[in-house]
Amino acid sequence: MQRIIAVVLFLFCATSQLASSLNDGLLPNGNFEYGPKPSELKGTKVMSPKAIPNWEISGYVEYIKSGQKQGDMLLIVPEGGFAVRLGNEALIKQKIKVIKGMFYSLTFSAARTCAQEEKLNVSVSLNYEKNDFGLFPIQTMYSSNGWDSYAWAFQASESVIEISIHNPGVEEDAACGPLIDSIALKTLYPPKRTRVNLLKNGNFEEGPYIFAGPISEGVIIPPHIEDDHSPLPGWIIDSLKAVKYIDSDHFTVPKGKRAIELIAGKESSLSQVVRTTIGRDYVLSFTIGDANNACEGSMVVEAFANKNTVKVTYDSKGKGGFKQARLRFKADSTRTRIMFYSTFYTMKNDNSGSLCGPVVDDVKLVSIQKLHHL
Ligand SMILES: *[C@@H]1O[C@H](CO)[C@@H](O)[C@H](O)[C@H]1NC(C)=O
Repeated sequence: MQRIIAVVLFLFCATSQLASSLNDGLLPNGNFEYGPKPSELKGTKVMSPKAIPNWEISGYVEYIKSGQKQGDMLLIVPEGGFAVRLGNEALIKQKIKVIKGMFYSLTFSAARTCAQEEKLNVSVSLNYEKNDFGLFPIQTMYSSNGWDSYAWAFQASESVIEISIHNPGVEEDAACGPLIDSIALKTLYPPKRTRVNLLKNGNFEEGPYIFAGPISEGVIIPPHIEDDHSPLPGWIIDSLKAVKYIDSDHFTVPKGKRAIELIAGKESSLSQVVRTTIGRDYVLSFTIGDANNACEGSMVVEAFANKNTVKVTYDSKGKGGFKQARLRFKADSTRTRIMFYSTFYTMKNDNSGSLCGPVVDDVKLVSIQKLHHL
């Protein structure tokens, strides 16, 4: 009997691995390394809808080689040798197979070029919700090299969906518009509360795809995304600005493989609402630190449990490090909003002018009664 269970378990693991490995990673030709035939290009402009393998295009799409010049600007590409530029009303799309009903996070890299207010509309067709799309302003630059990776999440309503990235803008220069590279997909497994933590995904291990290359600037998780479609399951970024998702391959992370960097002061906050019992005592514990990314200075993280709050200071040398903190409170509501933000803006000391900030990780909420039991 035990052997049968073991075999079944093994088969289950094997198939679930197969399913996830099919989905996690770059989309077919997701980094545009396969390009149009010379006959399908006019200069850099792509002339036919199916010229880029695996993709379909419309509008003013350019195929860009790394190192190409545009006026005085040298166009660099984050991954491999090629990228595309979405000019006026340009759209790229690709049909992919997914698992119906599953949640997915899309990560893509984009860079601003010449227009003032470049935006990208990322959408998925055939979705439960009509008009499931995310509008990304490609304006604030978070990274040092000009390219940022962004995450967006959706639920697949069919087993075949079409992912589109569209530049809805119209500029005087039709070629103006953001560069796009490295488009990847990752299955999101909605995390559960555990016996030892009332918060879901408190260690941030579940989240969007992070590119594996030697250099990564982390992934921008934009604000105002609904809880159930958050690329960071369990958490809401209910602020004006984004937070950054980082991993231990490229940064110092206090616990596990992934964490959040609060990059935009009080304008970028991270929260989760939990059910609590009025009158009961709780302890919120968490770790703050720095990502070892030249983000130096005196940092303060403010943590909230509804109106209860604690300010935790951390003196960052920019070389990686962390400390533990806690907030004890008595619940005054059946719903308690746990929230974090950084009191100050911080900039990297590498002259890039890019935003950075304290890292938050390993967030746990326990009721004191439970603590006694453990
Ligand atoms: C974004 O694209 C979707 C799907 O094509 C569309 O329904 C929506 O209106 C677009 N939004 C904006 C603001 O362009």
